[in-house]
Amino acid sequence: MSLPGAPYVAYRGDELHLEGRSLSALAREFGTPLYAYSRSSMLDALSGYERALAGREHLVCYAMKANSTLAVLQLFAAAGCGFDIVSGGELERVLAAGAEPSRVVFSGVGKTRTEMRRALEVGVRCFNVESSAELEVLSEVAVAAGRTARISLRINPDVDAGTHPYISTGLKNNKFGIAHDQALASYRRAAALPGLEVVGIDCHIGSQIVDASPYLDALDRLLDLVEAVEAEGLARHLHLDLGGGLGISYTGETPPSAEALVRSLLERIDARGHGHRTVLFEPGRSLVGNAGVLVSEVLYLKDSGGGKNFCVVDAAMNDLMRPAMYEAWMNIVPCDRAGRATPRDYDVVGPICESGDWLGRDRKLAVTAGDHVAVLSAGAYAMSMASNYNTRGRAAEVLVSGDRAWLIRERETTADLLRGERLLPNDAQSWY
Ligand code: LLP
Repeated sequence: MSLPGAPYVAYRGDELHLEGRSLSALAREFGTPLYAYSRSSMLDALSGYERALAGREHLVCYAMKANSTLAVLQLFAAAGCGFDIVSGGELERVLAAGAEPSRVVFSGVGKTRTEMRRALEVGVRCFNVESSAELEVLSEVAVAAGRTARISLRINPDVDAGTHPYISTGLKNNKFGIAHDQALASYRRAAALPGLEVVGIDCHIGSQIVDASPYLDALDRLLDLVEAVEAEGLARHLHLDLGGGLGISYTGETPPSAEALVRSLLERIDARGHGHRTVLFEPGRSLVGNAGVLVSEVLYLKDSGGGKNFCVVDAAMNDLMRPAMYEAWMNIVPCDRAGRATPRDYDVVGPICESGDWLGRDRKLAVTAGDHVAVLSAGAYAMSMASNYNTRGRAAEVLVSGDRAWLIRERETTADLLRGERLLPNDAQSWY
């Protein structure tokens, strides 16, 4: 039986498997820390969106910031997915993975002129513009390049997504989007600028949302605006991009399925007479989150002397930032549950020199040095947020399908980390 929130993770006998592969065996083969992803889990998650959207003009744009490893992008591109990008780097990555630029939307509050130029040159489907100032710059860049930029305005609908303050984005005092009450004026300006073609409206209200109601509120506010914009003749057939944000289960949360959420939004769209519109979504976490695990080796068990037990593992906050950054709770389970050791409550911590370097607190585990543990639901905002803090190379990654496993990213070496750095020349020694 698969573990809660991890559809392709299950014990076979005492050994934890991802699809058909034992995670301890993968750890021995590829080393630790190791990210492993289930191909089926990702494709199933996408098909939930696709089932609900079948029969209407739509595009699911995977928000690649959640996990931008090339092979993951390649998998989604081959499955017909579009992409939501937020930087020139992500654009080059997704092109390298074989994506069609015409299926890419470009979001982000701080696009540079260089990034805009490149996105125009390759022909992205749409820029999701986040401010009036950006409209002016984009028009200027497009005119200079002899191109037209297709744009959508990202509206800040001022709804509370009820999520962690760092990942809530649709409230008035967030830095994201154009305030709802300024949006009509921005559409007027966009329609008047020479380098732009207005094609859509979008919003993204936050992440790890576990309830459909903030989406429905945001949608209503967007549709009010669409009606006002089209009534003034500023644009026709605006597409509706409802962003990403759907949550997953980390610790018993019960978000709606993607299929149920999308169906309820489409129902509202139809009920308000907008059923003819092309609909876009930008899911990140809900496509990849549950598909990944981070496998790590137990290095040492120690007690603090003050009644606390620590389980020191070889993965750390540089590999998985979410617990340190958001106090995120992520399930940690042994890869072998034969349970020779006595179960104890541990804080599972990494080797980094920060007290904030923990992966889980107060977890009951029966482990001993040399065992492997797996952090579940680590497919999203995990490897893509990894850093090299403490001069630690980033983990290797494998993709698992049935009983096959492919190495999709080599472990970073120390030589990789030092590449590009320069020592000062000898004649500069008088400076220090
Ligand atoms: N579209 C836009 C414009 C976004 O900013 C985001 C995420 C998404 C789509 C995808 O949202 P998702 O479906 O993944 O919720 N690092 C945080 C999450 C940050 C989300 C940033 N924006 C975490 O680890 O929880």
